[in-house]
Amino acid sequence: MSSLRQSYYNLFSKIYDRIIELHSHDLQGRLRGALADRTGLKAGDVAIDLCTGTGSVPPFLAEKVGSDGLVIGLDFSSGMLQKAAKKIRDRDIKNIVLIQAEAQHLPFKDRTISAVTCSHAFYELKGEVREKTIMEVKRVCRTGGRFCMMEHEVPRKKFIKFLFYIRMVVAGNLGSKSLLRQEASFFKSHFSEVKKEILPGGNTKVISGVIRSGG
Ligand SMILES: C[S@@+](CC[C@H](N)C(=O)[O-])C[C@H]1O[C@@H](n2cnc3c(N)ncnc32)[C@H](O)[C@@H]1O
Repeated sequence: MSSLRQSYYNLFSKIYDRIIELHSHDLQGRLRGALADRTGLKAGDVAIDLCTGTGSVPPFLAEKVGSDGLVIGLDFSSGMLQKAAKKIRDRDIKNIVLIQAEAQHLPFKDRTISAVTCSHAFYELKGEVREKTIMEVKRVCRTGGRFCMMEHEVPRKKFIKFLFYIRMVVAGNLGSKSLLRQEASFFKSHFSEVKKEILPGGNTKVISGVIRSGG
């Protein structure tokens, strides 16, 4: 049975791509490509796109890992995954599989994954779920693998900033406000070589970090 949050995302899946399209035209495609560029993925690797939603990121990762590699798009919303499945079918991409699961309980063996991405979702995870998710990322990734997260930068304009925080409230996650304040120390406590980059356009950031030996 679906939780309330899953039902919310199932409903959201019906309009999600349209909203993104209206909001950003082609920019989101370029930004997701930039996220994939920061993963360090190469041919034959296995990658996970956490909270993949309608599957916008996996095609960019699939290009990096090639036909000998594999990309796993993971999400807990069946509605989002249905949209993702159609996108991947329409483009006839063979090296992507979609899995319905929770980010905080990854159904993969230790040290088997080369990179994990998470786009516009990490700040929607509630505190405890977010912590468990990071621990899972560290468990499944091989040493030297990368976690790359893309998010909106906190907007400067007052009204847009208001909408940004509304998104967090709707997702039931005002706790992210404290993560935003302690972003650098949060990521540094879990990963080495932590980098924050603001992408072209100025509204989006990628934070990446490398998995240390021993997790
Ligand atoms: C705002 S959407 C982002 C989708 C996509 N990554 C993108 O960049 O367009 C957030 C996604 O996170 C998923 N999600 C939220 N909490 C989750 C959890 N605990 N486990 C798995 N997926 C989750 C939702 O179902 C939704 O598809």
